[in-house]
Amino acid sequence: MSPLTRRQMLALGAAGAGAAAVGGAGLWWTSGGGEALGGGRELVQPEVLSSRDGALDLALEAAPARVRIGARTAHVQAFNGSLPGPTLRVRPGDTLRVAMTNGLEAPTNLHVHGLHVSPEDNGDNPFVSIAPGDSFDYDFSLPDDHPPGTYWYHPHRHGHVADQLAAGLYGAIVVEDPDPVPVARERVLVVSDLTLDDSGNLAEVSPPQRMMGREGETVLVNGQVRPRAGAAPGERELWRVVNACPARYLRLTLDGQTLRLLGRDVGRLPEPVELTEVTLAPGNRVELLVDTREGASTLTAAPVDRGSMDGMMGGAMPGDGPGTDEPIELLTLEVTGDRAADAGPVPPGPVLRDLREEPVAARRTLDFAMGMGMGGMMGGMRGPGQMMSFTIDGRPFDAERTDQRVRVGTVEEWTLTNSSPMDHPMHLHVWPMQVVTEAGREVAAPRWLDVVNVPAFGEVTVRVAFDDFAGRTVYHCHILDHEDLGMMGTLEAR
Ligand code: C2O
Ligand code: CU
Ligand code: CU
Repeated sequence: MSPLTRRQMLALGAAGAGAAAVGGAGLWWTSGGGEALGGGRELVQPEVLSSRDGALDLALEAAPARVRIGARTAHVQAFNGSLPGPTLRVRPGDTLRVAMTNGLEAPTNLHVHGLHVSPEDNGDNPFVSIAPGDSFDYDFSLPDDHPPGTYWYHPHRHGHVADQLAAGLYGAIVVEDPDPVPVARERVLVVSDLTLDDSGNLAEVSPPQRMMGREGETVLVNGQVRPRAGAAPGERELWRVVNACPARYLRLTLDGQTLRLLGRDVGRLPEPVELTEVTLAPGNRVELLVDTREGASTLTAAPVDRGSMDGMMGGAMPGDGPGTDEPIELLTLEVTGDRAADAGPVPPGPVLRDLREEPVAARRTLDFAMGMGMGGMMGGMRGPGQMMSFTIDGRPFDAERTDQRVRVGTVEEWTLTNSSPMDHPMHLHVWPMQVVTEAGREVAAPRWLDVVNVPAFGEVTVRVAFDDFAGRTVYHCHILDHEDLGMMGTLEAR
C-alpha cells in the first residue's frame, strides 16, 4: 500500500490519539514516580544463577507474589517471588534444566526467548501446557557455538501470554561471551510495565486495550520505579537491556553519555556502533556500552508511534491509544568521583554470517492483518466486547495446523507484509532472522534480530537459516495481546 494511505489512516486516527493522551488516567504516575513513589532508590540487580561444570539446574515457580513497587505494595505474579525472576547465566554448550511449577490459577509454560535450542519435547516447546498445580521439567541444550548475548524467559501459553507478562513473569538469560569485552561492571536492565489499581492489584484490561496492545501505566526497571545508579567518570559499563513489556516500544536515550551498541538480540557486532538512540520493539534486547562522563544522566524512553486502530474502527474509541505521549524516565545515572583508568579498546567481535551470500531454498510471504471478527470492518464500533481478529495469512492461530514446512539446513527468504494500520513486531522462535530489506531498501551490514518490526502498511524481508534443529514451533507478533488474539502461526522443520 502507498505511504499516502498510511498518512491518511494516521490522520484519521489523530483525533482519537489526542483524546487518549488527555484521558490517560495514570499520567502523573507514569511520568516517572519521583521520591513520593519511591523513585531514586539504588538500582538492584535480580538474583543471578550461574551454570557450573556445563549445567544450570534450577526450580522456577510461577505464582502470585506481593512485592514493593515504588512506595506501594503490589499483588503481582512472579517467578520465585521476585520481579523480575532470577537472571540465568550460562555458556555456549551448557545445559539449562528448569523444574517449572505452576502456582497460578491459569495454565502456563516457559519459553526461552532467542535461545537457539530444540523446540521439541522438553525443550523450548511452545505447545506444552502446565495446568495449575502441575510441574514440568524443561531441558535446554545450547550448541557449543551458541551466540553470546542477552536473552530472556517468559510464559508462552497461548491465550495467557500478555496477561502473565503484564503480571510480572519474566527474567533475563545471559549467554556469556567466551571472549568478553572488559568492563568495570555489567548491569541487567529488565524494562517492564504494568497497571495497578488503588489497592495494588493488577488493573483490568479492556478489549480496546487488548486490541491496541496494552501499555502499563508504570514502567519499571528491574521491578523498580526510576532507580538510580552510580559510577565514576571514565568507566566502561555494559548494559543489557530487555524489553519485557507486552506491547510498549522503547526508544531509549541517555543524555550526556556516549552510547555504543555492542549487540542486538543475538550475538555481538564486529565492532561497537556509536548511537544516540535505539528503539526496542517488545521482545528486543540491546547490549550497550556506556563510557561514563561526569554528571547526571537519565535513561529515557521516548514515545513511539506504532499506529492506531482508529482508521479501522470508523472513529475514535475511548482508551485505544497506546498510553502516554510523554517521555518516561527509566533510570538516573550519577557519575561522580575520581576518574577511573582508561578501559582500553574494545576487542573486535567475530565477522557476522551474511545469508545474502548463500543460496535461497524457498521464498514465502507472510501477511499480518487485522479485521473485524464478524460483519463488516469499517462499520464503526460495535459492542465493547467486540474483538477484532488478528491473523497471519488470513488465519488465526491453530496449534493443530502446520502453516509452514521448512527443510533443516536450508536458507529461506521471507517477506513479511503488514496490511494493517498498526506495527507488528514479528518474532520467530529457535532461528534468528537476518534483515535484508527494510522500507524498500537493502540493509548494508548483516543485521541479525529475533524480533523484527513490520511497520503499519509496510514490509520487511528477512532470511533465515533453519540450522541444527528439527521440530515444530511458532512465529508471532510480539505485541503479546495480538499473539493471544491469534496473530501466531506454526512452523515445522525437518
Ligand atoms: Cu518472547 Cu514467542 O516469545
Ligand atoms: Cu521467543
Ligand atoms: Cu501485532
